[in-house]
Amino acid sequence: MRNKNFALITGASEGFGKAMALECAARDMNLALVALPGSGLTSLSCFIERNYGVDVVFFEHDLSKKEECVHLFEKIKEQKIPVNVLINNAAVGGTHYFEEKDSEYYYKQIELNVIAPTLLTHLFLQTLEKNSPSHILNVGSLASFFFLPKKGVYGGTKSYLVSFSKSLRRELKSKKVFVSAVCPGGMNTTPMLILQNKNMKGLGRWSVMNPEVVAKITIDGMLAGKELIIPGFWNRMFMLFDKLLPKCCKEILTDRTMKQSKPFNNPVIFSMQSLKPAA
Ligand SMILES: NC(=O)c1ccc[n+]([C@@H]2O[C@H](COP(=O)([O-])OP(=O)(O)OC[C@H]3O[C@@H](n4cnc5c(N)ncnc54)[C@H](OP(=O)(O)O)[C@@H]3O)[C@@H](O)[C@H]2O)c1
Repeated sequence: MRNKNFALITGASEGFGKAMALECAARDMNLALVALPGSGLTSLSCFIERNYGVDVVFFEHDLSKKEECVHLFEKIKEQKIPVNVLINNAAVGGTHYFEEKDSEYYYKQIELNVIAPTLLTHLFLQTLEKNSPSHILNVGSLASFFFLPKKGVYGGTKSYLVSFSKSLRRELKSKKVFVSAVCPGGMNTTPMLILQNKNMKGLGRWSVMNPEVVAKITIDGMLAGKELIIPGFWNRMFMLFDKLLPKCCKEILTDRTMKQSKPFNNPVIFSMQSLKPAA
């Protein structure tokens, strides 16, 4: 039986998940990392153990499959890994008109972005209660708040996470399980996004952040027990503009922005090309 708690992070092999893993390790937290098979978790785990002196275990699972979520839970239980932080980060994004993708695509997206975090939260709840004070962090997006063309299903999945987090937080507060949601704007995570963000114009360009910076703000916010974390000045401004601007102005701006954004095959594409974030 290990005596120090672990942070379980899904989608930890790349991008924001990896940045949060490094941030947690820098704060002396042991890690349980999850990503798809063959995504480089072996070398990442070795790197973190060697450089940060924390314990790291990793699991390769396709979390879009219900049985794999259950399998992950069982393995962690079997190995008696005391999880006291659950970070639901793995997700699939996309920028395209609704009719451009088939129903299988949306089914998978909803399975990974909605079903997996709900199921994992449910499976790990008793463990989190036992190891409290504990934290659940759900990774939403600024798209949780804005109703954008080409982001219909993705935005919907992220709105769900914010709503779920806020309700669950009220249920679990007395048990010292603190639930937070983080809603980042555009981040330089995948090579495709870095390129896209580089070519961006206007306010959107200034609002793009590096995942390492977002991860630090996020982990600070989570450990402080914040309900909603919106990293970055410009992203908080977007939220304010959304309240202040009339609907017609917002629609003109966002329609123009989203028409310009091109569909990519990369799983997570977040467009921040104008006043209104598409992330
Ligand atoms: N990037 C942005 O601009 C942005 C903005 C707002 C919110 N977000 C949110 O931030 C989170 C991370 O985004 P990101 O840009 O860092 O994404 P990313 O670089 O594409 O990384 C996604 C991570 O999820 C894992 N993953 C994908 N499908 C999986 C599956 N079926 N089962 C298990 N793991 C899976 C990937 O593992 P593999 O390496 O094995 O594929 C990878 O570790 C997401 O929730 C996203 O919605 C991102």
